Amino acid sequence: MSPSEAKKKIQELTDQVNYHNDLYYQKNKTEISDFEFDQLLKDLEQLEKEFPELKQPDSPTQRVGGTITKEFASVVHEYPMLSLGNTYSPQELEDFDGRVAKGLDGDAYEYFCELKFDGVSISLIYENGLLTRGITRGDGVRGDDVIANVKTIRSLPLKIKGKNIPAKFEVRGEVFLPKKVFKQLNKEREDIGEETYANARNTASGTLKMQDSSEVARRKLDCFLYYLLGEENNVQTHDEAIHKIESWGFQVSPTYKKCKNIREVLEYIAHWEKKRADLPLETDGVVIKVNSLDQQERLGFTAKSPRWAIAYKYKAESISTRLNGITYQVGRTGAVTPVAELEPVLLAGTTVKRASLHNANEIARLDLHIGDYVFVEKGGEIIPKITSVDLNRRSGHTKAVEYIAECPECGTALVRKEGEANHYCPNEKGCPPQIKGKIEHFIQRKAMDIDSLGEKTIGQLYDLNLVKTPADLYDLKKEDLLRLEGFKDLSSKNVLDGIEASKAAPFEAVLFGIGIRFVGKTVAEKLARYFKTIDNLASASYEQLLEAPEVGEKIAQSVFDFFREKESQKEIERLKAAGLQFESSFKEPEKVSSSLAGKSFVISGTFQRYERDQLKDLIIAHGGKVLSSVSGKLDYLVAGDNMGPAKREKAEKLGVKIISEEEFERMIA
Ligand code: IVH
Repeated sequence: MSPSEAKKKIQELTDQVNYHNDLYYQKNKTEISDFEFDQLLKDLEQLEKEFPELKQPDSPTQRVGGTITKEFASVVHEYPMLSLGNTYSPQELEDFDGRVAKGLDGDAYEYFCELKFDGVSISLIYENGLLTRGITRGDGVRGDDVIANVKTIRSLPLKIKGKNIPAKFEVRGEVFLPKKVFKQLNKEREDIGEETYANARNTASGTLKMQDSSEVARRKLDCFLYYLLGEENNVQTHDEAIHKIESWGFQVSPTYKKCKNIREVLEYIAHWEKKRADLPLETDGVVIKVNSLDQQERLGFTAKSPRWAIAYKYKAESISTRLNGITYQVGRTGAVTPVAELEPVLLAGTTVKRASLHNANEIARLDLHIGDYVFVEKGGEIIPKITSVDLNRRSGHTKAVEYIAECPECGTALVRKEGEANHYCPNEKGCPPQIKGKIEHFIQRKAMDIDSLGEKTIGQLYDLNLVKTPADLYDLKKEDLLRLEGFKDLSSKNVLDGIEASKAAPFEAVLFGIGIRFVGKTVAEKLARYFKTIDNLASASYEQLLEAPEVGEKIAQSVFDFFREKESQKEIERLKAAGLQFESSFKEPEKVSSSLAGKSFVISGTFQRYERDQLKDLIIAHGGKVLSSVSGKLDYLVAGDNMGPAKREKAEKLGVKIISEEEFERMIA
C-alpha cells in the first residue's frame, strides 16, 4: 500500500471506529458486533504500525491500550484536588445550609445535587480539543499522569468537536468499574481459580495504575464527569457547566437535580437512598453544590475542602452480633476460604448468618476471638462483612482464632505460597470438594452444558464412587443412575442423553471444561483457534504457548505443566475415546476464486438462503472484503429483508451499488 492509500484507509477506519463508538456510547445503539468492532480497530492498528508517521494523536486505537508505562510521570495539579466535607446527618446538612446563607449575606441561592460515585477521581486536561493528560488525585497537589490507561475508557472523548471549545480546559470525574463488569471480572477469576476482588472501587483504583494499558482496556473502566475548570469556559452556574460538558460528548450521570432549597435537597437524598441500588455503579452518598459559580467563589475554600459543597454519605447498615465459630470452605482449585458463622440477625431486610472472611490476614487484622460480638455491615458488597470487634463486650476467657493447618475436607496439610493471601489444599486428586468442583466446572453451561446434571447428582455419583473425573461421566450406565436417590427410568435417561449430547460440544468448550488453571473461557477460545487440535496444544513448547494470543507467562506455564502430568494425559485419552471434540471447527474460509478481488461488501438485513456469516464466508472465499459500515469507498451493499432505511439512504446518497441476494449469487456463479 502506498503512503497516500494508507492515509486514506487510516482516515476511513478512524471514521468508522469513531462512528460506532459514538453510536454505542452516546446513542446506546449498535450496528456491528463487538468482534467486528475489534476487527476494525485491529486493522487500523496494523496500518499505524506500518505507517507510524500517519498515526493521529487522537487515534481510537489508543482505546485498546498496548502502551507499557514503567513509571508514571508525577504532575502538579493546576487546581489542587481537594476533598469534600462529609456528613451523615440531616442536622449537619442544615448547619451547612446556614453557613452558606450567612456567607452569601442573605442573597438568594440554589443547590445542585449529584450522587457521590464510589470510584477514583481523575483530572483530565484537554488542549486544543485533544485529551493530553489524565492525572490521578495523588496527594491532592500532585498526582500521576495515567493517560495511556485513561484513553482506554471508551466513553471518554479523545478529541472534542464543536464550536467555541476553549483552548485549554480541565474536567474532573470519577473512574469506576460498572457493577456488571465487576461481577463478570470476578466470575472469570473464579473460573480460572484466581482470588476474587473484594470491591469495585479498589479494583478500579488498582486497574487505573496498571502498567500494561492493554490489560486496562480489557477491564472496561467507565467514567462520569462532574466538574469543569478553566479560565474561558463561559458558564455562570454548575448546572450550565454540566450541560456544556455533556454537549461536548462527556458522559454525565443523568441523576443530577437542581434544588431550590435544603428541603428539596433532603428529598433528593431520600429519593436515592434505596433507588441507587438500581444504578449501574456503586454510589455512597450525595454531593451538594452551590449552583452559582460566582457564589462558589465568594464562599471559597478552607484548607481542605470547598465551603460551597458537602458530601452527605449514606450509612452502610451495620449491626452487632455474636461470632459463633469459623468454618472453612474448600473450592475447586483447593483455595480455602474462612467463613464467619454468626448468630442470625436481621440486617437491611435480610437475615444474616454468615460473612466471608477472605483469608487468614483478614482474621488477624480483625483480631477475631470466638464468642466476640462483631459489627456486620452491608455496604457496596452484596455479601455482608465484619468491620470490627466490639471490644467492650469481649469477655475475659476468649482466645484468638487460630487458622487451621489441615484441610477440613481431607486432612492434608495446607500450604500457603509466598506472596499469596490464601491457604491451599494441595491434595488436588483426592480432596472431595476439589474433585466434585472440577466435575461441576466441566458440566456448566459455558463448558459441556450438561444441564440434566447438577451439584446434588454429582455429589451422589461421587459418594457412590461412580464418578471421580469428568471422563467417568462417559462410562455411566443406566443401572448406575438407577442407584441414585429418586432416580427412575426417565430421569436416568435424561442424564444419559445430556451426557451423550455433550460429545458434540465444540473443542473450545471442552478445553475450558477440563479446567486447566488460569484458562478461562476466552483464553480457551483463543487457544483452540490458534492451536486447532489438542495434540498441537499438548506438544507446544513453553515458548510456542507464549506466542498465542492472550497468553502470558502464567498461563503458558500452567498449560505446559498440565499436559506434562500423567493423570491429565490419561484423562484426555479417555475423553478422546469417549468421542469428545478435540479439534477446532473454526475454519478460515478457503479461497475458491478471485472473482470478487478488490471489491468490498457490506451485508445488511436477513436473507432467504444464507445466514449472514455464510454470506461473509462466501465473499472472503471469492477474494472480496467484508466491511462493517457504508462509506463512499464501499462497492456493494448486499441488501436483505428488514434492512434499516437509514443504511439504504446512505448507500444511495454515496452512490454505492445495492444488490440483492440473487444478484450476489450471480456475481460468484
Ligand atoms: S465534586 C472540590 N462530585 O468524592 C470538590 N466529587 O470526597 C470536587 N466524588 O475527590 C468534587 N462523586 O472523587 C464531586 N458528584 C461528585 C462526586 C465526587 C464522587 C468524589 C471525588 C472527590 C471525593 C470527595
